Amino acid sequence: MSDTASLDSLDIIGPDTYAKNGYPHAAWKRLRNESPIHWFDLPEGVGFWAVTKRADIVQISKQPEIFQNAPRLAIFEKGSPPEGERTFVRQLLNMDPPEHPKFRNAASHWFTPRAIRRRRPEVVRLARELLAKMAPDGETHEADFVADLAAPLTLSVLADMLGVPRDDWPLMFEWTNQIVGSADPEFQKEGADQGELVSQARNELFQYFMELAEKRRAKPEDDMVSVLANAEIDGAPIPPLELLSFYLVLVVAGNETTRNAASGGLLALIENPGELAKLRGNPGLTNSAAEEIVRWTSPVIQFCRTPNVDVELHGKTVRAGESLCLFYPSANRDEEIFEDADAFHVDRRPNPHLGFGIGEHFCLGANLARLELQVVFEELAHRLEEIELAGPFERMRSSFLGGVKRMPIRFRIRPESG
Ligand code: HEM
Repeated sequence: MSDTASLDSLDIIGPDTYAKNGYPHAAWKRLRNESPIHWFDLPEGVGFWAVTKRADIVQISKQPEIFQNAPRLAIFEKGSPPEGERTFVRQLLNMDPPEHPKFRNAASHWFTPRAIRRRRPEVVRLARELLAKMAPDGETHEADFVADLAAPLTLSVLADMLGVPRDDWPLMFEWTNQIVGSADPEFQKEGADQGELVSQARNELFQYFMELAEKRRAKPEDDMVSVLANAEIDGAPIPPLELLSFYLVLVVAGNETTRNAASGGLLALIENPGELAKLRGNPGLTNSAAEEIVRWTSPVIQFCRTPNVDVELHGKTVRAGESLCLFYPSANRDEEIFEDADAFHVDRRPNPHLGFGIGEHFCLGANLARLELQVVFEELAHRLEEIELAGPFERMRSSFLGGVKRMPIRFRIRPESG
């Protein structure tokens, strides 16, 4: 029986909940079963409808003319990153048709399955190089899986695609942490509030890419900064704000998601030794394991849609202009769709998860993320001999992206030639 008062008190948006306890799966389960479209007030901001079932998220995401991305990107506890942020950033995720597909097409050929397959040797080389640094000799070692593998791998691959010189890669890492982790005390700076921190990091990133784009306009290279700096939409170059925002979304989306999937995926394997054994015994399972890792970890927690007309959903009237918050990790545990939804199975098939979203804004980098996850877990499936956690798995304070700050591991891996 539904008890609205107790549903209203569920905390699915406070970043502290996420930092301390991880994802609020029990709360989402109740919402799916008792009130799949449920209104939440926000004490310090405008409230929102929580959408928790897969079918509803699909229906909403596939009607971009009605359910728009533009006015509100995601729900933040205090309405921040600051209201008005959208006037400083104009990127794919806050654009709608007919503008959105034109911008997306300017970069999409870099992310086709074929284009991404060509990157495989480089991703394998990088993964092996990082693993060799972590454990060169077949002995037991300790490392931080986030800092030593997941973060540098995803960062390097993307920075390389963009054409950012190697010496500047750490800057990308710092800026994205500050933009995405602004609610986490670890990434805050003394005297700067959350909004200032985001603006400062964004401005530095913009300045950096403005200069790089200028160089690539004068002398184009085979990289994404050159492609976008020289692209034309409706016969005109991409305007400066949209161009810089494009680089921003690629850097942030490319760095802050796959690394969390990789770290959360390894944690799932450590916590489910039977699944780890299955994968080690059958490295052919890496593709389905990668999909299951995205379902299980769902690193993007939520994005919003705003209807431009009043709509009825599950008998509730959602007014034009109100926010619908799509909770992807909840859709990915929807028991109506997934058998044994709360269990991690590396051989799950079919696996129609929404970890990458669906419809108009389906993740542009999905093929790249899949490749990176497949490569990491293929290497581990072949070579890992022992692994355990060597300290706490530390989550970022965010209800937008399921970030992992640290993952200390103790492990033994066969050297590459072994
Ligand atoms: C496991 C890793 C990843 C996950 C879980 C993920 C998840 C998502 C989700 C859920 C969306 C859709 C948002 C919506 O419908 O509103 C999205 C969009 C996007 N993702 Fe990813 N992503 C990942 C990796 C990447 C990578 C590696 C890139 C590389 C650049 C990337 C770039 C983008 C971009 C540009 C968009 C916006 C697309 C649009 O609005 O048309 N993502 N991602």
